Amino acid sequence: MKLGGPAQYFLEPRSVPELVAIVKACAAQKVAIRVLGGGSNLLVREEGVSGAVIKLTHEAFQTVSIDGNKLTTGGGALLSNAISQAVKAGLAGFENLAGIPGTIGGALRGNAGGRNGDIGQYVQSVKVLTVDGEILDRSDDELSFGYRQSNLTELVILEATFQLAADNPDEIIRRLRKTWIMKKSSQPLAAQSAGCIFKNPRGLSAGSLIDQASLKGTRVGGAEISDRHANFVVSDGKATSSDVLRLMDLVRSKVSEQFAVDLEPEIQIW
Ligand code: EPU
Repeated sequence: MKLGGPAQYFLEPRSVPELVAIVKACAAQKVAIRVLGGGSNLLVREEGVSGAVIKLTHEAFQTVSIDGNKLTTGGGALLSNAISQAVKAGLAGFENLAGIPGTIGGALRGNAGGRNGDIGQYVQSVKVLTVDGEILDRSDDELSFGYRQSNLTELVILEATFQLAADNPDEIIRRLRKTWIMKKSSQPLAAQSAGCIFKNPRGLSAGSLIDQASLKGTRVGGAEISDRHANFVVSDGKATSSDVLRLMDLVRSKVSEQFAVDLEPEIQIW
């Protein structure tokens, strides 16, 4: 949402050894670490983030390679880049994730997805870095993915390998276009937002409940419930994080009053 305060320390390591050194130094100095993916599912509070924020922007964390039906990518690579490489190589699966912003690491941690599936279903193995600076390989049978969640709780997702399937390239592109068009027609993709703000309650749609509560267009300061999709809060460029948080509280209480449903935030709040 491009909102919120600064990080106390902001680090962009250039290599895995440099990242490991940062993690060990922070552990020794008792400095808390958070890893920022693409920042696309995140709201940072006005007061900013104490401790260190690491972002995997350098080449060492951004590689995407293909071997047969397997695609291996660095945790800092953009999901959109992995999707286009897979599509170009005639590998099916990732086209279902078209339109989802952010990095592979962020997508895996929160099992990003939508109506056509989620990223967890394609994972074969994941290389992680623990808070103690240890590198571990986690295979498919040790991993579990649920609705917007995973058991990938280690500090950093360094790399992941996905098992995709060869398919007719025209069919893959047709599905990619369809997913993209559906998303574009129902979501305010050009606006400043953090995607869907609340999780869908079991069997229900948060967007539909907020819409039925007539909250589209409701504003707090510069934050507004999108007219296009009621589960999106968009910023007019002048909003603050506090505006967004106050608007989220208002939505939760109205939906709870009218439908007796407690909405749970889907975005991360730092
Ligand atoms: N609806 C309304 N009014 C609205 C929005 C939606 O009535 O303002 C209705 C729709 O007409 C539809 C139902 O609610 O009948 C569901 O809406 P939609 O198809 O847009 O899907 P969604 O459940 O709101 C989910 C994910 C999205 C993902 C889409 C498409 C969640 C919280 N949201 O949205 O994910 O892009 O499916 O696959 O799970 C995100 O995670 O940030 C996100 C946007």
